[in-house]
Amino acid sequence: NRHLLQAPRMLARHAPAASFASAQFKVCINGGAGGIGQPLTMLMAMNESVKEVSVQDVTMAAVPPAGVAADLGHLEFPSKVVGYATDPSKPAVDQLEECLTGCHLVLVPAGVPRKPGMTRDDLFNVNAGIAKGVVEACAKFCPDAVIGLIVNPVNSIVPAMAQLYKNKGLDPLKIVGVTSLDIVRANKFVAEITGKSPTEIEVPVIGGHAGVTIMPVFSQDPTSATISADKIPALDKRTQDGGTEVVEAKAGKGSATLSMAYSGARFGSKVLKGLAGTPTDECAYVASTVTELPYFSSKVTFGTKGVETIHGIGTLNSYEQGRLKEAMDQLSKEIDKGLEYAKANC
Ligand code: NAD
Ligand code: LMR
Repeated sequence: NRHLLQAPRMLARHAPAASFASAQFKVCINGGAGGIGQPLTMLMAMNESVKEVSVQDVTMAAVPPAGVAADLGHLEFPSKVVGYATDPSKPAVDQLEECLTGCHLVLVPAGVPRKPGMTRDDLFNVNAGIAKGVVEACAKFCPDAVIGLIVNPVNSIVPAMAQLYKNKGLDPLKIVGVTSLDIVRANKFVAEITGKSPTEIEVPVIGGHAGVTIMPVFSQDPTSATISADKIPALDKRTQDGGTEVVEAKAGKGSATLSMAYSGARFGSKVLKGLAGTPTDECAYVASTVTELPYFSSKVTFGTKGVETIHGIGTLNSYEQGRLKEAMDQLSKEIDKGLEYAKANC
């Protein structure tokens, strides 16, 4: 339900006031002063089940995290927003105790974005190191939190970080790759083609989050299932290339930030709803046995402990069966890259 994102308070002024007692969760946004980080922090600070938001970034971030926190601290929501700046020349684990202690959910858009001509995989060397610093600190200070990794390449970084958790004796299912933007895009593109409202469309997107591994299952949503078969390959390709469409339009000044912040908040709100006792579904990229690959994105039910159930991929038509093979061939290599990194570094 899209409205999980919380109607802004100004729209809800005359609704019964949410009790402050319902504001129970502490959330951290690492990379919170960045392009995704700032609007994502805002959306999470507007979630009435959130009591505290840590905005963490590095000391040389474009805006000091304390400034983002001061700004968001004036919103008329229950949450308290606190900024934390870390020195990247020192281990994150030595600096993040207060920031992370007590967190229920950590969202990680810390990392370098693509420029035109780059693949997400080109970001791996730099971003794996950034993710490792954050995830090691989570392992120490909030090992029970759900960690939503937004940083690219999700397909390789999630296996590496889940392995890091396994090596520390922690639950690898706390590490979740955020693929919600692919669902959001598929829903929007289907709405444009069919003339229906995107709020009535929920296309499952399975596989992973890069190129052909992004696999929208149009046959499983009642609205997209009505689209004629000859239009599906182009719709599928547009969904796969949604990120590149934005990278090119931003012409070297970054990748999707606002639609990702929306999607990260959609993901985060669902996780918090699950933690609060209402099981809630979202496709997400996790350690998995639904295919022969050890990591895969499919529908996940989030409950009181985070990932509760990982659902199978359901029935696919023959086009989708062909796409699944293509997605798995590429994903397999990207998973191996992450696991090799973990072997050498975690
Ligand atoms: P950005 O450069 O605007 O922001 C990244 C932030 O991370 C910066 O503020 C930077 O200072 C910070 N940072 C760098 N090292 C850090 C560290 N060690 N600890 C904490 N913060 C650190 O980039 P962006 O546009 O916000 O994108 C961030 C990441 O998200 C990129 O890797 C991008 O590819 C990825 N992304 C993923 C999806 C998805 O669907 N999963 C969508 C869009 C972008
Ligand atoms: C996206 O899908 O928008 C992100 O993964 C960013 C990118 O590099 O395309």
